[in-house]
Amino acid sequence: MCNTNEETAKKRVLSCIQPSGLLTLGNYLGALKNWTEMQYEFDCTYAVADLHAITVRQEPAKLRSQIYSTFAILLALGIDPDKNTVFIQSQVPEHTALSWLLSCYTQFGEMSRMTQFKDKSKKHPDNINVGLFSYPVLMAADILLYKSDLVPVGEDQKQHLEIARDIAVRFNNIYGDVFTVPEAYIPKAGARIRSLQDPSKKMSKSDDNVNAWIAILDGRDDIIRKFKRAVTDSGSEVRMAEDKPGVSNLITIYSAVTGKSTADVEREFEGKGYGDFKLAVGEAVADALAPIKQKHDEIIKDKKAMEQLYKAGAEKAEYVARKTYFKAMKKVGFVL
Ligand code: TYM
Repeated sequence: MCNTNEETAKKRVLSCIQPSGLLTLGNYLGALKNWTEMQYEFDCTYAVADLHAITVRQEPAKLRSQIYSTFAILLALGIDPDKNTVFIQSQVPEHTALSWLLSCYTQFGEMSRMTQFKDKSKKHPDNINVGLFSYPVLMAADILLYKSDLVPVGEDQKQHLEIARDIAVRFNNIYGDVFTVPEAYIPKAGARIRSLQDPSKKMSKSDDNVNAWIAILDGRDDIIRKFKRAVTDSGSEVRMAEDKPGVSNLITIYSAVTGKSTADVEREFEGKGYGDFKLAVGEAVADALAPIKQKHDEIIKDKKAMEQLYKAGAEKAEYVARKTYFKAMKKVGFVL
């Protein structure tokens, strides 16, 4: 049975992740780590946002295997599919259905201002499709269907969250109290993990330079090698500073992975050089990611067991999603 807010009186949490490539350390520290921790306190719904992934051209076999792998990572993180709702977005058709409804309450102008749309349009000038443009409306549907109070995301999703809030408020102003207005839940450490090769950019799975990012499923040697090669800054002090973006990024990562404060990290490496520090960060990250990779590799072997879980997850999700969707449809005036 579903955990509805009425039954549990817990705040509702929703978040999703795209299976558009290998998941990164940025995804882990900016979002997934929080997802796992929040399950003990909140009523959580998490999805693999596969519909979002096709705004950029995907190779079918690769997309399929990425969807499985992303779902397996969610389980490997320790997100309990019985306690929470864990599913694959395309298996709950209310997401696309509500997205159409909401798109009629969203302005062309506000979508045009989305920085991610502008960035991705530049990156894929030959495929600036309508889906890429209206992507934040689908994301608003994901969030609003589950009456979500909190949405754990990294900083790059803040603008999309704002739009989801604006759409909810606009709809509610016309039709009454239909949608819960969600709030972003952004971690203190790790909200924006930067590229290991160019700290002016965020760490991203779409970066062509594989040394710039760590995949959650990277092996220990690769992780340590990439950290050894990470760009640092002039000087030799391990200190958070604006003119030390490379070192500051590594301190942030080390702090997020170990739970130590940045001041403690600075103290720990006082008098030590960048070499020692980079090795320590690499080892700490490798230690944190190893158990996830190990569990993922076991889970992915049993597709039948996974199928049972994602089907049950979609059923649970749809039970909640359908109620919200029909409520919104009815308010607008459709015959049900
Ligand atoms: P996606 O798939 O790009 O990323 C998933 C989550 O990881 C966070 N993240 C980062 N955090 C810190 N540093 C980084 N370098 C970094 N890179 C990624 C993202 O902020 C995100 O929280 N549109 C979303 C997926 C989505 C969604 C939703 C999220 C679809 N529907 C509904 C929340 C609610 C996206 O593309 O995330």
